[in-house]
Amino acid sequence: MTGHRWLRTPDGTAPRISYGADYNPDQWPREVWDEDVRLMKEAGVDVVSIAIFSWARIQPAEGVWDFAWLDEIIDLLHANGIGVDLATATASPPPWLTMKHPEILPVTADGVTLTQGGRQHWRPTSPVFRAYALEMVEKLAERYAEHPAIVAWHVSNELGCHNAYDYSDDAARAFRLWLAERYGTIEALNHAWGTAFWSQRYGSFEEILPPRTAATFPNPTQQRDFIRFSSDALKDHLIAEREILNRLTPGVPVTTNFMVMGETRHADYADWAGEIDFVSNDHYVTEGRDELSFSAAVTSGFARRRPWYLMEHSTSAVNWQPINRPKRPGELIRDSLTHVAHGADAVCYFQWRQSAAGAEKFHSSMVPHGGADTRVFRDVVELGRILRSLGEVVGSDRAQSDVAILFDWDSWRGAELDSHPSEKLRYQREALDWWTALLDAGVRADVVPAGDALDGYRVVIAPVLYSVPAALRAQLEGYVAGGGNLVTTYFSGVVDENDHAWLGGYPGALRELLGVRVEEYRPLWDGETEPLSNGTSGSLWSEPVDVVDPAVEVLATYTSGDLAGGAAITRRPVGSGSAAYVSTRLGAEGIAAVLPALLAGVESELPEPLRGRVELAVRGDVRFLINRTDDEIALDGIEGSYLYGGAQLPARGVAIVA
Ligand code: GAL
Repeated sequence: MTGHRWLRTPDGTAPRISYGADYNPDQWPREVWDEDVRLMKEAGVDVVSIAIFSWARIQPAEGVWDFAWLDEIIDLLHANGIGVDLATATASPPPWLTMKHPEILPVTADGVTLTQGGRQHWRPTSPVFRAYALEMVEKLAERYAEHPAIVAWHVSNELGCHNAYDYSDDAARAFRLWLAERYGTIEALNHAWGTAFWSQRYGSFEEILPPRTAATFPNPTQQRDFIRFSSDALKDHLIAEREILNRLTPGVPVTTNFMVMGETRHADYADWAGEIDFVSNDHYVTEGRDELSFSAAVTSGFARRRPWYLMEHSTSAVNWQPINRPKRPGELIRDSLTHVAHGADAVCYFQWRQSAAGAEKFHSSMVPHGGADTRVFRDVVELGRILRSLGEVVGSDRAQSDVAILFDWDSWRGAELDSHPSEKLRYQREALDWWTALLDAGVRADVVPAGDALDGYRVVIAPVLYSVPAALRAQLEGYVAGGGNLVTTYFSGVVDENDHAWLGGYPGALRELLGVRVEEYRPLWDGETEPLSNGTSGSLWSEPVDVVDPAVEVLATYTSGDLAGGAAITRRPVGSGSAAYVSTRLGAEGIAAVLPALLAGVESELPEPLRGRVELAVRGDVRFLINRTDDEIALDGIEGSYLYGGAQLPARGVAIVA
């Protein structure tokens, strides 16, 4: 980050975890606003994000501006002590704009132009869209520059949620410029893209297109560059809006809400984080409890362990999954506090009041359709009370762990390209398995973006590190030579940043460090497993591993079929460090079995009976103990004073101990 700058707060305000929501007063008649503010105060809300989808209301026609309603709600919120995270209102262009300028609409890889009527239907590279959007930002920044209610700027909304990949002619033009800057000459691009293959050689940058739907697999380096370019195009938009805000309201910090959750991976957030004053994230529960804490830890990694802002999550059900179930009792508070445990200093929801109309009317909110007399609103009030009592936590960094999971967006996107040994490989799934196994062992871990320093970590786990440029190889070699313990897995070290295979055998760039050599990948069929000598079994993938360095210890072998007797899991001691290789997918349970041999002496900080049942996260000197089970747990052996909760941890409960 350029430097961490948190919400602007009036002098003398006691530190607190901010609490609130996206608030859409423009969906409601004026009289509802008074009730909103009354209930916000009851719940202890001190910040709301407004105007996220208000473009059509603020600018109902070209050259026509209506700020009266916005002035009024901002003043009302301010008069009631509620800060405003003011959106730049550019997330979704109004119909008059797309009717007048259909050339701002995004185009899919198949050449279909997306239409208005949903949201976020704009091309990140459209100069026309950019000009209209920046006019809006300028108007808002000028009007509210001095308003004391504004605690932060919220650029756009979830950049790239629906429009990350646009294959339009605008995108083609911008892609060519991006490539010319990256490669300098067309010869360099031809080399990087390996265009000697399939007669793909380009004579000039003008001949290049985005990877639109082709007769068969598009060039993989073209695909990887297009993904990188698309992230940069959105980042350019972020920067363009931010520059106006910085110029007109230099005292107000700027953020934009990331989407670190599940499989979302279009944006290079490790890089984007450098463009904003504090990291914000939106998270919705998609794959169960461990994915939530994993995503929170990933977000903390982007925030470089500084506090971050949970911009959106849900009080209960969402509306966009095939089946949308409400949260169970206890989950609203536990989920929020889990984010706090991993560094959130603001806890906000989508949204304040459940919409009566529109596509999100069945999405939960802080004030449900049922009103204030509901379980959800009572929990919301209770959570507000808890957050207000956690002043001691505010501003503290997430404490560094001994173990890091190296998370590499580039490997994620690269490993899952088409025309690979298996299309079933899921990068994030593998990383999540390691996270779960660590939680099961009661071992705390950080998630570190690839490229960041690894100082202080005794163990670095780099699952499926597919893409290893020379600099990353050198960093990992240096880490191990300095006494660090690296663990990596199948399909790692395979290619460089241009998607060219490292030659000489797999795991390519990491082969010497690991002391093993693999001639061929051997992915497994659906449902096929390979039993291992330690009683576990591998799925998805297997490799005939030749041990090259005699110092390598074999921790487990394959026990049947073609691979019988061959090494499956290895560890090469290097001075006081080591480099370990896991050549198959073990799943969380299989990882648990081998973890003690890979953790280089790192042990759980939890008393034995709590390991696996309780998740531990630490901020400053404060420990968060999160019940991972549906049973009550006695927190025997936990010393300290309870800031929240007590020694008897309820099902799905959290205790906070200083
Ligand atoms: C987010 C979005 C919100 C709302 C929410 C529903 O993607 O930013 O506006 O749509 O999802 O879960």
